[in-house]
Amino acid sequence: MEVSHALSVDGRPVAQAVDEASIERLVRHFYSRVQRDAELGPIFAVAIPGDWEPHLRTMIDFWSSVMLKSGRFNGRPVATHRALVGVTSKHFDTWLRLFDASARAVYPAEVAEQFVDRAGRIADSLQRAMFPPAGPRPANHVIGDGS
Ligand code: HEM
Repeated sequence: MEVSHALSVDGRPVAQAVDEASIERLVRHFYSRVQRDAELGPIFAVAIPGDWEPHLRTMIDFWSSVMLKSGRFNGRPVATHRALVGVTSKHFDTWLRLFDASARAVYPAEVAEQFVDRAGRIADSLQRAMFPPAGPRPANHVIGDGS
């Protein structure tokens, strides 16, 4: 058996199961579910009204960069997601649920968990950027501050 060079994600080895072909299968499986999903489908249909192929290629490059360190992705996800209309944290829950199911359909459980772990952390940071918590109120709105 061929010995792989030691790629790892946060110190854990990425199984040889992760290669460009399986990443492409994951991306295509996941977005075919997204397109048919009652909550996510309409949001994506507005954002991607025509050919899905460029988005799928971008997402293959993204996951290849994240998991295989290929460096092919050079987009701006925060700006892209901030521009989306009508997205809530409930949509992120659905996104992650579908992604988990797709990852498990393509990979053994321990590899799927590495994808889902990464996706979850990126989803958290996207949500912090998209839905910033309400900041402290300006001082002149504070009631009973004694001034
Ligand atoms: C409810 C959740 C989400 C929605 C509705 C959503 C939707 C979208 C849409 C509409 C685009 C633009 C597609 C295009 O114009 O071609 C996009 C791009 C992208 N999404 Fe998401 N997304 C979600 C969650 C996520 C998560 C959790 C990740 C990462 C794990 C992610 C990664 C990306 C990346 C990398 C791009 C490409 C950005 C770029 O090219 O600059 N998305 N997303």
